[in-house]
Amino acid sequence: MTTGGRALVLGGTKFLGVHLVEALLREGWDVTTFTRGRTNPHLFPQVTRLHGDRDDDVSALTAGEWDVVYDLSAYHPAQIHRTADALQDRTDHYVLVSTISVYADVAEPGVDEDAPLAALDGPVPETFEPELYGPLKALCEQAVAERFASHTIVRPSIIAGPHDPTDRFTAWVVRMSEPGPHVTPPLDAPVQWVDARDLADWLVRLGADRTPGTFNAATPAVPFEVLLRTIADEAGVAFEPVVLSDEQRAAEGVRAWADLPLWLDDPTMRGLLDVDITRATAAGLHARPLSETVRDTLAWVRTRGSDERRPDEQPPDDLRAGLTRTRDAELAARYDG
Ligand SMILES: NC(=O)c1ccc[n+]([C@@H]2O[C@H](COP(=O)([O-])OP(=O)(O)OC[C@H]3O[C@@H](n4cnc5c(N)ncnc54)[C@H](OP(=O)(O)O)[C@@H]3O)[C@@H](O)[C@H]2O)c1
Repeated sequence: MTTGGRALVLGGTKFLGVHLVEALLREGWDVTTFTRGRTNPHLFPQVTRLHGDRDDDVSALTAGEWDVVYDLSAYHPAQIHRTADALQDRTDHYVLVSTISVYADVAEPGVDEDAPLAALDGPVPETFEPELYGPLKALCEQAVAERFASHTIVRPSIIAGPHDPTDRFTAWVVRMSEPGPHVTPPLDAPVQWVDARDLADWLVRLGADRTPGTFNAATPAVPFEVLLRTIADEAGVAFEPVVLSDEQRAAEGVRAWADLPLWLDDPTMRGLLDVDITRATAAGLHARPLSETVRDTLAWVRTRGSDERRPDEQPPDDLRAGLTRTRDAELAARYDG
């Protein structure tokens, strides 16, 4: 069944946006994108492509009508207000892609949408500052609630799948597909993600139905072992994890998250990848099998263009996250058994 309608996507040429535009087109929507025209400008010649800058000139949005606006590129509340001023009342419904990083306290698992949000310690900075990502996204949510009576706020966990520019999920897919022992996080640590294609399909549905409310968006949390073993099984290699103790990691300078992506050893962050997804599940978020996400991510990473890799490296050490292959092998050999 197609849902149709006119959609404006703020973004649409990178990762989640690419999957969202594809999903909207599949469902028969008339799509307009709004970007600066820098990222993948060759994409989607079949849609109306408007250009401007959310930090400056959004005059391209002062004409046109859209049933649903999908906002994937807001990182500062001023961007929301600028967009709202330009759009006036020429949209029925606004869908903001926020983040699970908005929560004030993720020390414990099971954080749901009613939990308190992070707040800035000082004044709102004039422009986006990466270390204030969570509180600024929380202010974006507040601005959307103030300016758009009909709206949905979606807070994704780690987004996974083809075209991921961060390589946080991809790094594990690549590494655990290679034979030999590998350094891993503790196998019982919880991990969660959302496949970008599942998220995109769901966003289309939420917009079509004008579903009100706020939703975490993630798969059910699983122990890290499930993620890593599934990857090894998919690749047909033995699963040989090597878990370093806290002391060994400290001595070797192996960092949680940067070197072991998706794993947080900081006790105040341990619930980040184990949030409550009851509401999203009830509202129709469907997770494809992990094996499919793994297979498609691996197929994409093996063929991705040089613009999607770390420019200074060649495969398989061109990942933007995780230990290099050489360092992983060296550490795994030293601490195995
Ligand atoms: N990646 C994750 O794991 C993750 C997790 C949770 C939440 N999220 C959220 O998911 C959303 C989508 O992330 P993404 O990585 O797919 O894309 P993104 O980097 O947030 O957005 C990129 C898109 O927005 C456009 N854009 C960027 N700055 C702009 C500006 N100043 N004015 C107009 N257009 C601008 C880009 O095109 P141009 O460069 O051509 O302008 C591109 O199409 C974000 O809101 C992010 O916070 C991501």
